[in-house]
Formats: sequence, C-alpha cells, structure tokens
Amino acid sequence: MSIALPSGRLLKDSKLFLEKIGIRVKEASNRELISSENGYMFYFPRVFDVPVYVENGVDLGICGSDVVLERNNDVYVPIELPFGKCRMSIILPEEKIVPLENMEGYRIATKYPEITKNFFNEKGFNVKVLKLNGAVELAAKTRIADAIVDIVDTGNTIKANNLKEVYKMMDISAVLLVNRITQKTKFDFINDLIKKAKDYKNNIM
Ligand code: PRP
Repeated sequence: MSIALPSGRLLKDSKLFLEKIGIRVKEASNRELISSENGYMFYFPRVFDVPVYVENGVDLGICGSDVVLERNNDVYVPIELPFGKCRMSIILPEEKIVPLENMEGYRIATKYPEITKNFFNEKGFNVKVLKLNGAVELAAKTRIADAIVDIVDTGNTIKANNLKEVYKMMDISAVLLVNRITQKTKFDFINDLIKKAKDYKNNIM
C-alpha cells in the first residue's frame, strides 16, 4: 500500500490522523522523498501534486479539497478529514473595496487559475487570471493585480498586507484520495480505512 502525503502545512495533521487509524508514518530522512514502515510506502510530493500521484498509481493520498478541485484528476474522494479547515476567498486592497459585480475586466492573481476562471465564468464576468506559485498577496500590494483569490486561514497574512477578504468562494478541508483501481482491487481494505476515518472524525468533532 502506498500513500502520498503532502509536504507542507498539512503534513503534521495528516500523520496524526493516519496514526490514529493505525498507520504509523515514518518521516523521510534528509532530502529523501520516500520512506517505508510496516508494509506501507510513504511518498512526500508537493501538496499540489498529490492528486496526480494518486490518479497515476499511488493507492492513497491526503491533500486539501482546493487542490483536488484545481487539479481535477480522476480520483475517488470518499471522505473529508477533520483538519486543514480554511476558506478560499476573493481579496482586495483595503483602499480599493468594490462589490463582486464591479470586478469585470479585473486582473486576478492566484495559485488557483482553474477554480478562479470557472468561478468568474459562472458569474458571467470576464477577468484576466495571473497564475502565481505563492506569496500571492504581493501581487495585490504591487498592483500587478487588482484582486487575488487565495486561501484564508487565520487571516493574519491578509491583515499584515493591508488587504481585505470581500467574498468567500468556498470552505476547504483536507480530504482522503483513493486511486480508482485500488478502490476496486483492495475494496475491503479501503472500506475498513474509510470506516476508521469516519469513527475518528466522529470522535473528535
Ligand atoms: C497560504 C495562503 C495565504 C496564507 C493564509 O499560504 O496562500 O498566503 O497561507 O494563511 P493565514 O490566513 O493563516 O495567514 P502558504 O503559507 O501556504 O504559502 P504561499 O504564500 O507560498 O502560498
């Protein structure tokens, strides 16, 4: 059984969750990206790549629901996990607050170009999406973008950059991903895992 775990801010809670359902995770040593323990292989890709690994042969993965939506890979997502809770929002400079309807023609910087394009298409607005790989707040501060679409957790980052969250697009949570073939060939194991995940969720919520 192979599991792709997100390097980055979800890693700690992902490990804790797996340990609670009986899977002890071994950290990769130094710059290694793989570890193994008790018959499990653990892979440590970038969080944005977890669904790609799971679609293409890794049995299980954990990442945010934002990443699943943005990447749009063919994976089975049986359950939301009780951590990694945050939201995706439209964020503007504090001194340039406008309603959503006034964003026609806006340049919008984001790590989530697909979600952003779909969102504004559905609302019937034309916007220009600038794809960035992180530190997206800088695009609003430097005015290379009129607005940003980004993750808000504590809100500290936007506050520190004189930005304001004006519209919540969606709630986000960590999710479990299962490879489509694994779902069929290891049906009993996966079912048992999902049951344990549900019990864990019910116990802590
Ligand atoms: C995320 C997100 C915001 C920040 C929000 O960035 O893109 O910048 O966290 O968290 P807060 O509301 O608690 O301040 P991340 O740290 O993942 O790195 P990035 O800037 O490279 O995307």
